[in-house]
Amino acid sequence: MRFSILTLFPDQVRNFLSESITGRAIKQGLIELDTINIRDFAENDYGKIDDTLYGGMTGLLIQCEPVYQAWKSTFGKDGDRPYTVYVSPKGKVLDQNRVMDLSKKDHICIICGHYEGIDDRVISEICDEEISIGDYVLTGGEIASVVIVDSVSRMVEGVLPSEDAYTNESHMSGTLEAPQYTKPPVWHEKEVPEVLKSGPMANIEEYYRIASLVETWQKRPDMLDKLTISAEDWEKMLAFKKSL
Ligand code: ADE
Repeated sequence: MRFSILTLFPDQVRNFLSESITGRAIKQGLIELDTINIRDFAENDYGKIDDTLYGGMTGLLIQCEPVYQAWKSTFGKDGDRPYTVYVSPKGKVLDQNRVMDLSKKDHICIICGHYEGIDDRVISEICDEEISIGDYVLTGGEIASVVIVDSVSRMVEGVLPSEDAYTNESHMSGTLEAPQYTKPPVWHEKEVPEVLKSGPMANIEEYYRIASLVETWQKRPDMLDKLTISAEDWEKMLAFKKSL
């Protein structure tokens, strides 16, 4: 899978993604990361790619043509255009379902704005969708692009050690992951639940299933509204909550 990031700060994007799991995936060739500096496509010798806004508003806006040329430079050898995303606080907020859909694309180009953003004419001409990573405003789109590359990459086959590494996780099945524990069995008088130490496996699985529902109930009750929970499971959840 290939990512092309159009940005004024390519090092910021590359530095983050070249570490840890994404860094290993890049080295192994499971994902390809191109960072393209929009400034390299300035129409002048001094690298100026922005200008003042029409309408008397303050600030500077990135111009259409450098973005357009930078975007065209990402096309495949056969002229294939990438699936193109503009990251902005005006976009649809990213969630795990969107991440999974994006992980099916072969080539994604992410355009990062800065200053007051980018001239709307080029965005509406070349972007397939606009994505926000949350209802707050960042200084630029770079962090948002890193969030997308990171979350999408870990869905790409081979990036994580096994499918199990992500199928039981929070948001994958509409619930949050159950709390997990490692050694020692007792810490600050807090004990690891007996069933997790002794099994059998079927009981452990049932424990995790109910623990995951209770975790969601406690931390993200809004997510439970989208699930159909049987009366029997509600009883188990209540009993579990009482036992905490
Ligand atoms: N750029 C600035 N704020 C953003 C946000 N919340 N999401 C995506 N891109 C952004």
